[in-house]
Amino acid sequence: MPGRTPTATVGPGGHRPEARTTEPAPAKVNLFLAVGPCRADGYHELLTLYESVPLQDEVTVTLRPAPDGRWRFRVSGGGPGLPSGWELPRDTENLAGRAALLYAEALAGAAPGPGGGRASSRPVGPAHVEVRIEKRVPPAAGLGGGSADAAAVLRALQRLYGHPLDTADLLELAARLGSDVPFLVRGGRAVGRSRGEVVLPRPAAPRLPLVLALTTSRLQTPEVYGELDRLRERGEAPPPGADDPERGLEALLDALAAADLERAGPLLRNDLEAACVSLCPEVEVLTRLLRESGCVGAAVSGSGPTVFGLARDMDEASAAARRAGRDAPPGLSGRVTFVPLLSGLPGERRGAAANPLEPF
Ligand code: C5P
Repeated sequence: MPGRTPTATVGPGGHRPEARTTEPAPAKVNLFLAVGPCRADGYHELLTLYESVPLQDEVTVTLRPAPDGRWRFRVSGGGPGLPSGWELPRDTENLAGRAALLYAEALAGAAPGPGGGRASSRPVGPAHVEVRIEKRVPPAAGLGGGSADAAAVLRALQRLYGHPLDTADLLELAARLGSDVPFLVRGGRAVGRSRGEVVLPRPAAPRLPLVLALTTSRLQTPEVYGELDRLRERGEAPPPGADDPERGLEALLDALAAADLERAGPLLRNDLEAACVSLCPEVEVLTRLLRESGCVGAAVSGSGPTVFGLARDMDEASAAARRAGRDAPPGLSGRVTFVPLLSGLPGERRGAAANPLEPF
């Protein structure tokens, strides 16, 4: 992700530097999400296709000197993405704060010193880490907002400390924070496997004209997976293994590679959709509305309730967003916003997924 060049200032003591950087934290949608059986560890086996979208939080990380030689982590924030009545979890209650904590622990392991450790040309040591999050991505919406903030903290700390952790270590840290954090560290387009944390970047072209249906409803991920298990037990959702999801994903990837969005539309898939609809019936209304408004396909993102539609081009995406807004049933209007956008990472990192091992 583009990020900003870190700035360093001399602190009040005259020689203690303070360093700061700001990272965009773009959200994601899942163009494809096949859910396998529940594993012994409580996670479900997934096959998914992640796609970054330029709806993003902004995460500013400041490192201040720690005169007492102890790490401290502060997380605060706010912004239009935070629904009224919602408080942003603070400090290490926030996944972004836990990202900083895990990073600090890993840094201690990587610090040069007697007996070895990985060498670094930059100072490595405890700091007071302050994270400020400007929220624009709604939480609990299936867009990976909180995970994206945590991923942005990892990138920011890597930059501020001069990239002391290698990519594998950073992705391992990310996986400990959440299943979609490894994807969000890098962004672009990628296939996710296992519980979603094993990611294989794919070419991010063509960028996709989408319409996001952002609703004020919220869904909690564990509840949605639990509901899918219940529906499957009762025979009300297809059991895992009812088809071969690899073939479905291949077909979608082929259509995207050919830039044939009309073919790609009906191949969008999310096995959590039935569970989302069961918990939040408006999801079905939104999916139908986007299809009827001219999108060539529509699906739930992640564990919902955000729904997105795929259009043939940006003009059609804008027209579909207008039509959906006009035709939304009275109960939904005022609570749902239809946002046309072109998928992909904002700014300079467009196409960076082609070279995923660059320092983030
Ligand atoms: O990995 P993450 O912390 O984001 O997952 C949140 C919850 O979502 C998990 O505790 C689990 O209930 C559910 N989940 C799942 N299978 C996955 C990913 C998430 O059951 N592959």
